[in-house]
Amino acid sequence: MIMGFIASIVLLYIAIVAHFNYWYPEIRWDWNNISTDDISFPPGFVWGTATAAHQVEGNCINNWSEFEKGTKDDGKPNIKDNQQSGIACDHWNKYPEDIDLIKKLGVSSYRFSVEWSKIQPEHDTYDMDAINHYSKMIDALLENNITPVLTLHHFTHPLWFERLGAFEKEENIALFVSFCERVFKEYSHKVQYWCTINEPAVVSTQGYFSGMFPPGKQDPQLSAVVLKNMLEAHVQVYHRLKKMENGSTAMIGLVKNINHFEPWRRWHIIDWLISQSVNRFFNDSTIDFLRTGKFSIRLPGLAWIVHYNPKAIGSTDFFGLNYYSHNHLKSNLFSKELFSLHYKDGDIMTDMPYTIYGEGIYRAIKTGSVLNVPIIITENGVADEMDDIRELYIRRYLYAVSKAISDGYDVSGYYYWSLMDNFEWAFGYDMKFGLYSVDRSSQERTLRYGSKAFVEIVQKNSQS
Ligand code: NOJ
Repeated sequence: MIMGFIASIVLLYIAIVAHFNYWYPEIRWDWNNISTDDISFPPGFVWGTATAAHQVEGNCINNWSEFEKGTKDDGKPNIKDNQQSGIACDHWNKYPEDIDLIKKLGVSSYRFSVEWSKIQPEHDTYDMDAINHYSKMIDALLENNITPVLTLHHFTHPLWFERLGAFEKEENIALFVSFCERVFKEYSHKVQYWCTINEPAVVSTQGYFSGMFPPGKQDPQLSAVVLKNMLEAHVQVYHRLKKMENGSTAMIGLVKNINHFEPWRRWHIIDWLISQSVNRFFNDSTIDFLRTGKFSIRLPGLAWIVHYNPKAIGSTDFFGLNYYSHNHLKSNLFSKELFSLHYKDGDIMTDMPYTIYGEGIYRAIKTGSVLNVPIIITENGVADEMDDIRELYIRRYLYAVSKAISDGYDVSGYYYWSLMDNFEWAFGYDMKFGLYSVDRSSQERTLRYGSKAFVEIVQKNSQS
């Protein structure tokens, strides 16, 4: 009797683990037998590079600049070594020179964000100088045949919005929507591609779960609420802008980082449950919302939210995919954190706490493809100060993108992150993602050796 009971439990355990292993395989390609030169991209495929205002412009006064001055409860600075974004890359003044650098890469598009705190420094004030500044920058891009892709919210917002509770409160969504309407009114006659919000799940988990981003809170329920409100904000912005002049021809999309979470031990049921729950929170809740209108996070004792808005269905003209890597989670139910990150022997680490995993961008494209809209890779790139893995990273990830396209997935563009080294949020200036390095004292930009692989691929695969 007891033996029978134990045998049933063991069989059930094996069945559950086998089920997960079957449905969620961790794809690994044999890179030794793959020629990464074996790539092709369809006519019209768009090549570009990307930045975000706070990371490159300099002199921003927003939720991040405040956070940069602060410390955590344990006295450690919010930003590594107390760094502050400050003047950043002075892109605000140097954008004409930077546009020349973009052209030299051979790409035809530039994704950037407008800084809300510069355009609307106070709730009741729009700054015409800032509005004109971006207008001139857009004109300069167009004069140089570079298609602008404008992001409305890339991690930062004005202090007045932060003080009102930002996306913690549903009623604040309207404030963001009216900012977006204003920006769209100003530029939609010359900008066709719009990204509403960059990586809402990163804002919500890093700002309200890990506390690595402002406001530095650690409250899983609030994190889920912020994610839901940011996605609602996206839906509302989408529908409002679509109704405005130029709205019907504009391409408006959400930008989402897909980061698959894998179990560290594939036989361990708790590692599976934890990694699947994190996947649900970080990836699936957003994709499901856009696909079905249903948003749900059900983590008993941590976060619980169920929400429905049918207008979410079809509220993205393209899926902006940011992809960098995946993570392995090892459960530890007896620690406060519940799990820890681990890296497989033999995997190549980047300077960020993750590895090179080219297969992952193929998987992420597959995940995003359920939305049945074109996928634009709005960010992909590597932090590599020594510049000894950048070329490998570029070749592997672009091989995977090319393979996805030849397997029938609808990917219409690729933007390398980033044009130049910049302020990498909680890591400060230590992370070197740039195709161009930036000398912090002279502001001189220099094309990195490893970036030449990107330039070569762009040139070979662009229409003349
Ligand atoms: C995604 C974010 O959008 C961008 O701001 C950041 O610098 C890159 N990831 C690299 O971490």
